[in-house]
Amino acid sequence: MAVTATGSNMKSYEEAVDTFSWSDVEAQFSWARTGKVNMAYEAIDRHVADGKGDKIALHFSNNERDESYTFAEMSKQSNKFANVLRSLGIAKGDRVFIFMPRTPELYFSLLGALKIGAVVGPLFEAFMESAVRDRLKDSEAAAIVTTPALMSRIPRSELPDLKHIIVFGEGVAEGEGLVDYGRAMAEASDEADITWLDREDGLILHYTSGSTGKPKGVFHVQNAMLQHLYTGQIVLDLKEDDVYWCTADPGWVTGTSYGIFAPWLNGATNVVRGGRFSPQDWYATIAKYKVTVWYSAPTAFRMFMGAGAEVAKSFDLSCLRHILSVGEPLNPEVVRWGHKVYGQRIHDTWWMTETGGHMICNYPAMEVKPGSMGRPIPGVQAGIIDDQGNELPAFRMGNLALRTPWPSMMRKIWNNPAKYEEYFRIPGWYVSGDSAYMDDEGYFWFQGRVDDVINTAGERVGPFEVESKLVEHPAVAEAGVIGKPDPLRGEIIKAFISLREGYEPSDELKTDIARFVKEGLSAHAAPREIEFKDKLPKTRSGKIMRRVLKAWELNLPAGDLSTIED
Ligand code: WT7
Repeated sequence: MAVTATGSNMKSYEEAVDTFSWSDVEAQFSWARTGKVNMAYEAIDRHVADGKGDKIALHFSNNERDESYTFAEMSKQSNKFANVLRSLGIAKGDRVFIFMPRTPELYFSLLGALKIGAVVGPLFEAFMESAVRDRLKDSEAAAIVTTPALMSRIPRSELPDLKHIIVFGEGVAEGEGLVDYGRAMAEASDEADITWLDREDGLILHYTSGSTGKPKGVFHVQNAMLQHLYTGQIVLDLKEDDVYWCTADPGWVTGTSYGIFAPWLNGATNVVRGGRFSPQDWYATIAKYKVTVWYSAPTAFRMFMGAGAEVAKSFDLSCLRHILSVGEPLNPEVVRWGHKVYGQRIHDTWWMTETGGHMICNYPAMEVKPGSMGRPIPGVQAGIIDDQGNELPAFRMGNLALRTPWPSMMRKIWNNPAKYEEYFRIPGWYVSGDSAYMDDEGYFWFQGRVDDVINTAGERVGPFEVESKLVEHPAVAEAGVIGKPDPLRGEIIKAFISLREGYEPSDELKTDIARFVKEGLSAHAAPREIEFKDKLPKTRSGKIMRRVLKAWELNLPAGDLSTIED
């Protein structure tokens, strides 16, 4: 069943693989000759220099605001913010965090920070105090942009390196490190010098979760723009007249690599919609802006499916010509439903925070096999390997791995070289932590995570971070956290808890414990299910055995229990 869109940027996958070279991609940049780069310049100012200053770069709306900005306006606003940061003494390499809901100011700030060579640290607005503290502390952030509502979650007294808090909103009392965004921007010049950088200079720091330890700071460099530009062309298939909407928040890597960098490097008109998800609101957004290329996630598509075809039919969605998905397994059923209702096959894409950009994808130029993640992008080689690094034949399940390097590969884990090395423990390979197999036509099929990392509604949650928060609750003695399969969210977070002396299991206590995680860490990390146990299964060295908890949950044999405590 070949469904190949005609006229896509990539004519044939096989030909693209055969003729590919990264130096051809490099030649498309203005820095191909000088070697000096800046992501914000390439994404915004370059289009102004090329005579496209009047083109709409950003359509923004939420329930209160409805605004559009041209590339020329984006250039000026980000210049202003670059000047605000410079006037505060922020310089190249400093970490500048952005902690605010999606508004145009988030994008001005992020681009302005990049213009002076700062390393941007985006934080999802739902993060609560401990999540914010861990990230700012680990990265020794010098400044943060936020709003009055979110400011109380920044524990300033514990963050000696944090010199400036720039607040966008009403009634900001300046002084003692507080800066009023509105006042500072009004006074700043809209012309600014770009800080020119080397390709290996910093770009962005995205914190993400593993199965052990605190979230890790995944560090990306300017060179990633090669991959963003190219995959914007062949995977997103962006063309001059496209109106593109990526639904992800810039707090996650999809919201920066494909919500900011790839579309703007390609000069596309970008849609940002603030506020909460609802099928009606999202369909209305597509119809309002006549979105042509739409990038979202399986949980959202499953919610659309749940809302029913009738809801979709009540909007004019005929503008859509290409739909993509990322973050979790995309069920074949959803692909088929999408085809029926939107008239388009949803194209799955696989990659990770650490890879910085697309790795294995379905392209408009090739047949979509529903349930498969697709094939590696030209310039990237993927393989299925065993734990010793031997490549496995077709249809054998093993570690999904990538041949190193590629342009957008992370360059370090902030403050943690040992964690970084773990990914590269097999010479020549990056080991993803996912298991998969490859079929006889080179398509990859996702099977699961190798480790305990939870993927709930496309968001990656480390069980350790949740367990650490749980044991801060006065009633909790010990906690073990797993992902429990869920038809809508992929997985939900389930916590097994043993209580301290003097506490009795109750539904009220469950609610209180879930609220405690929600308010202390973040809503998406709070357990949706809690089960009390007298004792949790542990190794003799005291480590909670999540795999046994998972086996209990799924009614499966618990496997090798030789290391369990009696
Ligand atoms: C993990 C990475 C960068 C994209 C957003 C998530 C899972 C990602 C797929 C897919 C099945 C997927 C993997 C991966 N994942 N895309 N198409 N099919 N699983 O980035 O938070 O770094 O999570 O998300 O398990 O390792 P992330």
